[in-house]
Amino acid sequence: MKILITGSTGQVGFELQRQLSLLGRVLAPTRHTLDLLDAQAVDDWLEQHRPDLIVNAAAYTAVDRAQQEPELAAYLNAALPAQLARYARRQDIALVHYSSDYVYSGEGALPWCEEAAPAPCNVYGQSKWEGDQAIVLSGCEHLIFRTSWVYGAYGHNFMKTMLRLGRERDRLEVIVDQIGAPTPARLIARITAQALVQRLEGGVYHLAPRGETSWHGLAQAIFRLARAQGVTGLPAPEAVIPVVTANYPTPAPRPLNSRLCLERLETALGAPMPHWEAQLEFTLGEYLAGPGASLLRNGAEQAA
Ligand SMILES: NC(=O)c1ccc[n+]([C@@H]2O[C@H](COP(=O)([O-])OP(=O)(O)OC[C@H]3O[C@@H](n4cnc5c(N)ncnc54)[C@H](OP(=O)(O)O)[C@@H]3O)[C@@H](O)[C@H]2O)c1
Repeated sequence: MKILITGSTGQVGFELQRQLSLLGRVLAPTRHTLDLLDAQAVDDWLEQHRPDLIVNAAAYTAVDRAQQEPELAAYLNAALPAQLARYARRQDIALVHYSSDYVYSGEGALPWCEEAAPAPCNVYGQSKWEGDQAIVLSGCEHLIFRTSWVYGAYGHNFMKTMLRLGRERDRLEVIVDQIGAPTPARLIARITAQALVQRLEGGVYHLAPRGETSWHGLAQAIFRLARAQGVTGLPAPEAVIPVVTANYPTPAPRPLNSRLCLERLETALGAPMPHWEAQLEFTLGEYLAGPGASLLRNGAEQAA
């Protein structure tokens, strides 16, 4: 089986390459070999390589910048998935796609279920919702995983930003009233592989770990767990100062409620999702054993 993974240099795409190579031959063009903004190039590539499965991890993910570049966000997050879905329908192959909690309004405090009415509060969320719709309307066989707060050992993300800022600053203010579940890219890739092996019924699924926290709670957990794993120079969790969204305006409004109901996915897989904190501990360990190893070396040098 030939598997096309788009966005293979991104957080999720990177992990997908590792997981899905167990299921087939992975084809992972980067932007240097296939510019996804070039519709003709994408058609030509598909015609030439004829994948048996498409996994679309490419996206426009710069949430604030999307407010200034709505056409670009709409192209990558909606027009491209629509094009891939049309191809999948014509060739009778499946499309796996990733979407976001940002398709929901972010109001209230209850977890969103997959049927909740979409009401995105920013350009990025709107573009993701249009992508989901286009895939469903195409009639192709599809799995859409809506996830939240993605991070990992590789790529740019909140965990790595906190580890850097924590060592640079004495004082860190972090948002306390946005609630969700931080989701490792590795978990997304593992569940994708499992869903394909178990031949999950097509449709939309929420994919996140169990439990919930705020960005503030997440920052505290990062510092606590990283200190426990030997990283020095980080503030104590108590030194992280909670601030509310209203006092920290960003170009794109953010949803306060990013809780996702996991029941559909857990029932389909026949297994509970792991808790976010255990996932964070594992991902931190993976980072410190790999790309973040210098944080431990610096600590050892300081201690010596
Ligand atoms: N990040 C989050 O917090 C979050 C939350 C919820 C849902 N999601 C969804 O999860 C999925 C994966 O997100 P992620 O965090 O892994 O994204 P990411 O790290 O930003 O990766 C995006 C990927 O898309 C590629 N790409 C963008 N424009 C391209 C172009 N013109 N041609 C070729 N490739 C292009 C990027 O390539 P380059 O490396 O060359 O730029 C990169 O490989 C997305 O659908 C996203 O919407 C993410």
